[in-house]
Amino acid sequence: MEATVAIPAAATTAAAPPDSLVLPQDIMNRIQFSACFPAEQPVELELGAGDGSFILKYSALHPERNFLAVERLLGRLRKIDRKGRRLGLTNLRALRLEASYVLEWMIQPASLSALHVYFPDPWPKRRHWKRRLINHRFTELAARALKPGGRFFVRTDDASYFEQMVEVGNAQAAFTPVTEPAELMAVITDFEADFNKDGIATRHAAWERNTAAPSQHASPEASTAP
Ligand SMILES: C[S@@+](CC[C@H](N)C(=O)[O-])C[C@H]1O[C@@H](n2cnc3c(N)ncnc32)[C@H](O)[C@@H]1O
Repeated sequence: MEATVAIPAAATTAAAPPDSLVLPQDIMNRIQFSACFPAEQPVELELGAGDGSFILKYSALHPERNFLAVERLLGRLRKIDRKGRRLGLTNLRALRLEASYVLEWMIQPASLSALHVYFPDPWPKRRHWKRRLINHRFTELAARALKPGGRFFVRTDDASYFEQMVEVGNAQAAFTPVTEPAELMAVITDFEADFNKDGIATRHAAWERNTAAPSQHASPEASTAP
């Protein structure tokens, strides 16, 4: 399947983008979104954003939302920064950090309207499954970070990882499975385009954060890291 969504040139806000989309590296405190973006808007997080093939398109399509891209590889982060500024995006910021650390220690509880995790490293060998990003603990942290009504979206090409994603997502009491919106499904990542070109199926799943109290198993809420 080819990418079907082009980046609309006029989708950016009037304000000029900053010199760098990369956030300052204060890793001891939770991120204050109001200090990162010019407009206070719903915030969506992508973990493992790669070179930004999803988040660049999606943030351009949704100037009424703010987006934070997390990626640990500097070269990929620099691409997001360069392309995002070239596109004039003011609603996109990027952070070079480890994904689980960000979710656990840098995101305020009940602050995200969406969490996107697309094609995380599959660790196909059974003895490596414990290294996979999405597990029971991750979904507890995701449930804590999302606002009631916020959504968690995952994609993978790996059948056994997909089974694990669905198992832990469905086991999270704070989540209800939902259908991915068509407009989101149409925004495919570079990895996804490559898989589809090679005839490899890609799998999607989504959950909505219930309005009931968050999971009791997540870390206690705190306004600063340890
Ligand atoms: C297979 S790529 C997928 C990139 C992108 N989501 C896409 O679909 O095109 C996985 C990305 O996640 C990043 N990554 C893997 N583990 C990570 C971690 N623990 N923290 C932050 N980034 C991570 C990798 O550097 C890589 O860029």
